Amino acid sequence: MGKLRVLCTGGAGYVGSACLRYLLRNGYEAFAFDNLSEGQYDAVPDAATRLVVGDLADRNALKNTIKSLEIDAVMHFAAVASVPQSIAQPDLYWKVNVIGTKNLLDVMVECGVNKLVFSSTAATYAFTEKMPIQESDLQIPVTPYGSTKLACEYLLRDYSAAYGIGFSAMRYFNASGADPDGEYGEDRKDETHLIPLVLYSAVGRKPSVNIYGDDWETRDGSCVRDYVHVEDIACAHVLAMENQQAGQGRFFNIGSNRGTTVKEIIEACEKVSGKTIVRNIGPRRPGDPAILIASADRLSSELGWKPRYQTIEQIVESAYRWHNRYPNGYRDKPKTD
Ligand code: UFG
Repeated sequence: MGKLRVLCTGGAGYVGSACLRYLLRNGYEAFAFDNLSEGQYDAVPDAATRLVVGDLADRNALKNTIKSLEIDAVMHFAAVASVPQSIAQPDLYWKVNVIGTKNLLDVMVECGVNKLVFSSTAATYAFTEKMPIQESDLQIPVTPYGSTKLACEYLLRDYSAAYGIGFSAMRYFNASGADPDGEYGEDRKDETHLIPLVLYSAVGRKPSVNIYGDDWETRDGSCVRDYVHVEDIACAHVLAMENQQAGQGRFFNIGSNRGTTVKEIIEACEKVSGKTIVRNIGPRRPGDPAILIASADRLSSELGWKPRYQTIEQIVESAYRWHNRYPNGYRDKPKTD
């Protein structure tokens, strides 16, 4: 049997496009299905042929895409994914994330496609002080974003049992870093994530960075997160897809068993860029837990996953290369088609 033909919904977004490019580099035929509400045309190599601009609300478009491209497996990244926005607009999150996933599953059942890798999140877990978090830990989301992603996990479980779809739900912790060649990276319309914002300061796009609280119960008073490189996330998706059995449902954390504070991230960015970054200490951000660290043991033991980017400096260095080369993201990149 030849290599699987893969459709990446949200394949023009930050994580989706990194997975799409990883698939292409590893010899797969892969395509993006993206409405470009957040995704970027230029994040997709050969976008004229590899990107289908479409919305998960449009079942016919999705069905035609899956049929005409002879898709064997789906990686599902398309979602709205901002915690503060989800608190203000839960209606949007339930519609796009949950109804969108249901549409996708219905079309997959109709087309007989039964392999799915799903982009889930650490935000599905209950508030806990017990670290690292394991897949079997309690899931009680504290934000609408997390609720909608957990609802999708239940959808997958029920569709899998009834219709034989095999799925792996990948619960990411903090996705970070850029393509190894520095040609593609993190570029959102409205950036809220720590590493890109710190690097905006390093390359002169912003004057300073805000630290959301330095009075947390952590080693230096700032929040601790588990940063994992998008390439390693992509690798985990391919490993999951490759040994996915029909009708089988699995759940994996993607993280590193290692926590890094906000202040340590800023120091790593200063070290890698050679620039001094101005810090403002601000209030805590609503909804932030003090510490989030993943146990990634299941991913390693069951799928043989081994992250290539083992240190925070390596992750930050790859992100810096992208931001330094293209300070305004894809807008700065010469057009290829
Ligand atoms: N932070 C700052 N200043 C900033 C931006 C962030 O101090 O300008 C801090 C945050 O308070 C947090 C850490 O940096 O402690 C990381 O924040 P990000 O916004 O980069 O990432 P989050 O940990 O908030 O978000 C991640 C995922 C979400 C997921 C969430 C679950 O990106 O998809 O974890 O809590 F929902």
